[in-house]
Amino acid sequence: MRDHTHFGYRDVPLSDKQALVDDVFHKVARRYDLMNDLMSGGLHRAWKDALVIAINPPKFDRDFVLLDVAGGTGDVSFRTIAAGGAGTRAMVADINVEMLGVGRARARTSGLDDVVTFVDANAESLPFPDKSFDAVSIAFGIRNVPRIDVALSEMRRVLKLGGRFLCLEFSNVDVPGLDALYELYSFNVVPALGRAVVGEDEPYRYLVESIRRFPHPNAFAEMMRAAGFARVSHRLMSGGIVALHSGWRL
Ligand SMILES: C[S@@+](CC[C@H](N)C(=O)[O-])C[C@H]1O[C@@H](n2cnc3c(N)ncnc32)[C@H](O)[C@@H]1O
Repeated sequence: MRDHTHFGYRDVPLSDKQALVDDVFHKVARRYDLMNDLMSGGLHRAWKDALVIAINPPKFDRDFVLLDVAGGTGDVSFRTIAAGGAGTRAMVADINVEMLGVGRARARTSGLDDVVTFVDANAESLPFPDKSFDAVSIAFGIRNVPRIDVALSEMRRVLKLGGRFLCLEFSNVDVPGLDALYELYSFNVVPALGRAVVGEDEPYRYLVESIRRFPHPNAFAEMMRAAGFARVSHRLMSGGIVALHSGWRL
């Protein structure tokens, strides 16, 4: 049985990975949204907009509930609520109470605490009944989860029949010229930004290393099929910096 995995470039016991990941997000939670803007030059907004268009919440009053796994501070959920009609609701599930705390405060100040709810939950054992949600998303979260296959099965389990699963994740840049620039930016600028803004570069080294260790989009698509998703597809954005994966529960 597989009992080791990657934490960035480090080989660690599978049972140690979650605590290491939790420590990363504990350190970055307070500045998480600001750092996303700084590191991506605002591009993460366009990537999340593409995700929300694919989630496709109804514009009218029909009930529609999104589960956003590893939803952190709730960014995808807030965007989905803004795009949907009066019947749209979102549930943010995340394992990190600091990230959830930032999101809850944001929901309160925006008067959205009745439509966006936050639950402390592990993607590998979601505390919801089978077939509960119209759509399930996970943005920049899956590569942090120790047992990706288990989390994929769980996300399919809680999806209603006919529901769509969407996963936004970093991918592999293979545009000549852009790849070298991206490499330089990732390993030099990103950790330096982390040190300047959060006071730590280690969490940001993990970020860039974990991106490099994540499976190629075709390999990830295979994992989605193995978890039972149908009509699996993906598309690359921004020269392959990110991939938007899609699958259905049919
Ligand atoms: C890079 S953040 C993404 C947050 C949000 N989805 C976004 O796009 O802004 C990754 C999130 O994954 C969460 N996470 C890591 N392991 C998890 C697990 N096993 N179950 C649920 N959430 C997890 C972290 O706590 C963190 O909030």
